[in-house]
Amino acid sequence: MPAHNHYSRFLASVYDTALLFPIGKIRKSVRDILINEGGESVIDLCCGTGNQIRYLQKAGIPNLLGVDVSANMLQQAWRRGLKDICLQKDASQTGFEDDAFDAAIMSFCLHETQAITAEKIFNEARRIVRPGGRLIVVDYSFDQHTHPLGRFAARAVEKMVGGGHYQNFIHFMAHDLLAGFSKDLELQQCQRFLMGAVAMWVFINK
Ligand SMILES: C[S@@+](CC[C@H](N)C(=O)[O-])C[C@H]1O[C@@H](n2cnc3c(N)ncnc32)[C@H](O)[C@@H]1O
Repeated sequence: MPAHNHYSRFLASVYDTALLFPIGKIRKSVRDILINEGGESVIDLCCGTGNQIRYLQKAGIPNLLGVDVSANMLQQAWRRGLKDICLQKDASQTGFEDDAFDAAIMSFCLHETQAITAEKIFNEARRIVRPGGRLIVVDYSFDQHTHPLGRFAARAVEKMVGGGHYQNFIHFMAHDLLAGFSKDLELQQCQRFLMGAVAMWVFINK
């Protein structure tokens, strides 16, 4: 498992509260897509504190799993009753069977890892989601409509988190890595949030 200690105990403990307001709308959009598309078995790759999973649980989605490498982030999920659902595993090599899930979520994780790891996580999602299932990515994305304040806030957050995050984030944005990973997939929809600085892409797996 890759060494992963970017998330201190403190950061992990305030993560959900800090993101409650900005992220709630995105969490609900991910949930609604999964409800509408009939995603019954869903894996959240890099699930962090399990916050998105709790939205899905409340909506009655039956088979949920999350994986993350950070013990501090997982601790937050575990203390909220997700011990059996959120597992400590590397999202780039989960060990699950091919086509095991209807959908995978990758939320705010691809930008923070090295390009090679981000690509491996995306390819792992493709492998473990059945053909016709959904790959949902939520991450930063700037275009001509992104408000300067949105760009500023995204950069500030990544700088604040520290570690290699900021360099990885800059690389992810500058090289439009997601476009490369997903170039042979059908994009079902893309919605924008947070002054146009964040996007949710829904791809149909092959
Ligand atoms: C910004 S947090 C996002 C957490 C969650 N997906 C969300 O939307 O709130 C990024 C998470 O990715 C996890 N992560 C990074 N690389 C990983 C890997 N190779 N395998 C599993 N988790 C990873 C980190 O530990 C962290 O919890």
